Amino acid sequence: MNKLRIYKGADYNDMSRKAAAVIQAQLTVKPESVLGLATGSSPVGLYDVLAKMYKDGEVDFSCAKTVNLDEYLGLSPDNDQSYRYFMQKNLFSRVNIDIANTYVPNGLAADPDEECARYDDIIEKLGGVDLQLIGIGVNGHIGFNEPADSFPVKTHVEALAEKTINVNKRFFKSVDDVPRKAFTMGIGAIMSAPVVLLIASGKEKAQALKEAFFGPVTPHFPASVLQFHRNVILAADKEALSLFPDR
Ligand code: F6R
Repeated sequence: MNKLRIYKGADYNDMSRKAAAVIQAQLTVKPESVLGLATGSSPVGLYDVLAKMYKDGEVDFSCAKTVNLDEYLGLSPDNDQSYRYFMQKNLFSRVNIDIANTYVPNGLAADPDEECARYDDIIEKLGGVDLQLIGIGVNGHIGFNEPADSFPVKTHVEALAEKTINVNKRFFKSVDDVPRKAFTMGIGAIMSAPVVLLIASGKEKAQALKEAFFGPVTPHFPASVLQFHRNVILAADKEALSLFPDR
């Protein structure tokens, strides 16, 4: 492993503050940064902190651009379970970002393959991602890159793993409502970002973090690829780090 910096938080809120400080620093050093963003439970607190920082004049998104990791196939941007909706609600509507500079795959794209190519093209034209925020699935997925026989490099349509469907059903009325497929950025775009900020909270993530950083590097546990990244910042709380060896 090249470099792993660990910011250990006492709890979820502390982790969120530490992770928000990294994004704030990124935007201070480079106001026109391209931020790769994530959804799910892990970043909600972090987005709350960023919204508060903005209100207090401590962070400026006016020149920032964002590209999200993923989006469910078949959900429209105004569906309250879509990731575009999530981003609008949790971050974009609360800070001074220009919505025209925010990118999320279009869940309703008529031609999914074309949408994947379009998304990679957007990332390339933006000059790549400067800082990529990610969470981790209990099965080791990053973005929606699920365990597989190889690491998918480009944006693609992924069939969600059974485990992911079961974990994510908490957001839907029933398990049958969880979309079975999603667009996801590939491992290539994630690994190309000069900084990867991984956030994780709670004891249910402890095993995944241990496997990611101390297990074998294998596409059967996609997050393990981060062992090959030069600059990973792991912001996690005590519980998520409970299976890490003492350092
Ligand atoms: C979300 C994403 C996923 C989540 C992961 C953890 O955009 O790409 O990889 O980061 O499933 O989800 P939470 O944070 O809900 O535990």
